[in-house]
Amino acid sequence: MITDSSWVDSMPDVYDRCLGPSLFAPFGAHLGAAAAAFAPVRVLELAAGTGIATRELVRALPSASIAATDLNPSMVAWAASRVPGATWGQADAQALPMPDGSFDLVVCQFGAMFFADKPAAFAEMARVLAPGGHVVLVVWDRVELSPFPRALVEGVRAVLPENPPDFVARVPHGYNDLAQVKSDIEAGGLVDVAIDRVVMRGTASSADQLAEGFCMGTPLRFDLEQRGDLAALRDAVAGEMTARLGQGPIEGDLAAIQITAARR
Ligand SMILES: C[S@@+](CC[C@H](N)C(=O)[O-])C[C@H]1O[C@@H](n2cnc3c(N)ncnc32)[C@H](O)[C@@H]1O
Repeated sequence: MITDSSWVDSMPDVYDRCLGPSLFAPFGAHLGAAAAAFAPVRVLELAAGTGIATRELVRALPSASIAATDLNPSMVAWAASRVPGATWGQADAQALPMPDGSFDLVVCQFGAMFFADKPAAFAEMARVLAPGGHVVLVVWDRVELSPFPRALVEGVRAVLPENPPDFVARVPHGYNDLAQVKSDIEAGGLVDVAIDRVVMRGTASSADQLAEGFCMGTPLRFDLEQRGDLAALRDAVAGEMTARLGQGPIEGDLAAIQITAARR
């Protein structure tokens, strides 16, 4: 069944090529440094996708063992052959197949927004952590604060004004109410929640590259496929994004929220 969390077929490749360097890689090194500050020996990464942050974790923690996981087998297969240095496996963050107390650190970059039952996922993180263990999460801040996805949201609304797909605002940029995030994490049994806003600079060769990434390399693709010809809609969205962001190369802020918490 296709859902808001599905990556199938060529989507991992498009995601990694068109969105990875522009939106996700800038946060990978930041996450690597945050992880290294806890000096963990056993690290679990959830929703690791194509391994953009995993690469940085491997670099920042050369003597740690890193288990990188994702819900979608297509992501795991893509990343396992390209990001060595981690052990790759399929796992739903809401029902982890790992034993209690088996990690010192759990990290998740831009994945928690996709978990339908967030307190359940946070409870699973708490369960697999050893005493003294920590969690580091990164989620997107409000979409208005990041010009690249904001241009996508506006572009989709301009192309499909009657029935615009809202995936990008609703899911990846839909989990940034700080009180809600803190309450969900505490409901999962984690404590000492600390929340920081992190703003990076993103660059892209063109708005067309970003339109390709969002329309063909994220679950927005499924919504577009239901509304018309995918290639034509992608081209129209690319035109709207170019009108807003300009011809490439382009640059813009990327606004995110980093959360750390500890096992009770
Ligand atoms: C936006 S991507 C982020 C990937 C990667 N962490 C990065 O920074 O590039 C979101 C990822 O969440 C994964 N995902 C969605 N729901 C999940 C779940 N319930 N458990 C684990 N992973 C999930 C998707 O398969 C996808 O790889």
